[in-house]
Amino acid sequence: MRTLTAAAGLALAPRLFAAEKQTDNDFWALLSDTHIAADRKRFAHGCNMTDHLETVTRDLLAQPTLAAGVFVTGDCAYDDGETGDYATFANLLGPLGANGMPLHLTLGNHDNRERFWDALTAERTAKRPLEDKQAMMLPSRRVNWFMLDSLERTRYTPGMVGPEQLDWLAGALDANPAKPALVMVHHDPGLLGKVGGLRDTKALFKVIRPRKQVKAVIYGHTHDWHVHEHDSGIHLINLPPTAYVFEDGKPSGWVRATVEDDRMHIELRCVDPKHRLNGETRTLNWRV
Ligand SMILES: [Fe+2]
Repeated sequence: MRTLTAAAGLALAPRLFAAEKQTDNDFWALLSDTHIAADRKRFAHGCNMTDHLETVTRDLLAQPTLAAGVFVTGDCAYDDGETGDYATFANLLGPLGANGMPLHLTLGNHDNRERFWDALTAERTAKRPLEDKQAMMLPSRRVNWFMLDSLERTRYTPGMVGPEQLDWLAGALDANPAKPALVMVHHDPGLLGKVGGLRDTKALFKVIRPRKQVKAVIYGHTHDWHVHEHDSGIHLINLPPTAYVFEDGKPSGWVRATVEDDRMHIELRCVDPKHRLNGETRTLNWRV
């Protein structure tokens, strides 16, 4: 009963607060690796994932404007994508949707596609370019967002976009050449001297490198916040997890992205406001 009251309070209070706010069509919230378990009390690697995601949603609701969209680049579920994980995940993100911030989700290696669609029925019935993938193109005022689905097999660490999805991506990019394109995927492409989680990075870059409208690849998986520029001029943004990190001192949190015509500003928002990297900002200029 106490839990129910608390949850209702949480859901209602920000709604009243946010009702007066405007949507900023250039403000996007980038989240990854929420690892939400059905049991909200569950801890992993010294972290209560529910606490972390609630901190992030509170921070998002406290921003001066509403985000035009909230992305989660996979590993939504705790470990093997239980239906109950997705129910809790949907409840925790509920206040964002209720306050007018649309959610855009894709999957990671700790997700289960069928159970994700079972629990989030709107995602199952949503129009998708590929029936068997949680992929999408989301046009917006200044950029086109592309969400890829690199889940190959639940609890199998690497991932793959696959030829069919790459064909769709190439065609969709060719049909939309004028606007900058930002590509999101769960697995890291492994271009920084380490073996990446993505098995078909070469094939992905064969598609995106020559298509100059692609300005950035945004991913999670490593639970390790990094921003680099690839030699093609494509920005590589490794999002922090909202959940646990694998190395002490690394940040958990989300990224506030503000898009302009020829660049994007990003700000790291840490779960721990005292973290040394909290508020770190970068400006990423678009390649020409
Ligand atoms: Fe993860």
